[in-house]
Amino acid sequence: MIPGDGIGTEVMPEGIRAVEAACRKFDIDISWEWFDWSCETWLKTGRMMPEDGIEQLSKFDAVYLGAVGFPTVPDHISLWGLLIPIRREFEQYINLRPVRLFEGVSCPLANKKPGDIDFYVVRENCEGEYSDIGGRIYSGSDHEVVVQQSVFTKRGVNRVLKYAFDLAHKRPRQQLASATKSNGIIHSMPFWDECVEEMATHYPQVKVDKYHIDILTANFVNKPETYDVVVGSNLFGDILSDLGPGITGTIAIAPSANINPTGDFPSMFEPVHGSAPDIAGQGIANPIGMIWSGAMMLEHLGYPEAHDSIMRAIEETLKNSENLTPDMGGKATTAQLGETIAASIRGCES
Ligand code: NAD
Ligand code: IPM
Ligand code: MN
Repeated sequence: MIPGDGIGTEVMPEGIRAVEAACRKFDIDISWEWFDWSCETWLKTGRMMPEDGIEQLSKFDAVYLGAVGFPTVPDHISLWGLLIPIRREFEQYINLRPVRLFEGVSCPLANKKPGDIDFYVVRENCEGEYSDIGGRIYSGSDHEVVVQQSVFTKRGVNRVLKYAFDLAHKRPRQQLASATKSNGIIHSMPFWDECVEEMATHYPQVKVDKYHIDILTANFVNKPETYDVVVGSNLFGDILSDLGPGITGTIAIAPSANINPTGDFPSMFEPVHGSAPDIAGQGIANPIGMIWSGAMMLEHLGYPEAHDSIMRAIEETLKNSENLTPDMGGKATTAQLGETIAASIRGCES
């Protein structure tokens, strides 16, 4: 586990508390090793993680990460020095981000009830717009030019599409929405569409809709109940996976699983949110994104009953407004909400 920066260090203990409660309940052996890799470490050592950091992590079954990045260190140093290399070196090419409206959390959209918003964003996580190919010339002058290349490979697009089609195929509605911007002058987007059409021929039961990203964002707000599984490139998936939890009341409950489906390398589980410098140190961060990510980690490791027990505890706890943290309109602290969820896991029937 890498608590990281800001509220990452505050929500991590609650994530561990919930995961350990579920492990005790289901007799699962778990042991942790703690890595203090963070912006603070960079300020002391000039590195976000040691040179052999990836190698050190490779012997674990999973990585549990809080949040990375803080205003004391430029984002391109902190994120490119820790989070992004882990995703890439371990080929965690799926970023799976569920979006759900829970009973007890007030929805910013009118007339929506729990069940109306319940979908997955499947984000490509290793290539696309997140590419280090590019550069700046004439830096600082009026003639400065900055070029950024996107990289879409057939292997990279097909493997994320396959995962998304498989997921849609397993869900009752079997609907897949694909996000592109094929009407812009962007070569990669018609290519992505062609890959979707080809993949769709292998999944005749899955209903596929292709959307331009601009109207898709509007639809997320106007008719989120339309969506079941939504697949998109690295950048589009990033944006959609903040908008998704945004329409369910708070970004802070959203989890993510950075998955290497081959199992060759560890997968990584982390909340969607960042280090929240504006509230760090106050003990009021919502730990649910971290806890739900822990549930996804246990499911990934082969313990679906432990996952379900954590999810039931989250659902039950959110029904009582006394348990809500300020981002959900309540007054509870991080520790109060975390302890209530852990107690519910301990008490929950399996
Ligand atoms: P952020 O998610 O940290 O914060 C956005 C807003 O949401 C803030 O107002 C914050 O207070 C609130 N918020 C976020 N998580 C919350 C929680 N658990 N409980 C209550 N409120 C919460 O996004 P940002 O401000 O754009 O980024 C801050 C730093 O985090 C930057 O350095 C950014 O690069 C980094 N970041 C890291 C990750 C990651 O590690 N995966 C993800 C996103 C951002
Ligand atoms: C996320 C974050 C990261 C991303 C940043 C911090 C690099 O926003 O996990 O969604 O863009 O992937
Ligand atoms: Mn993001």
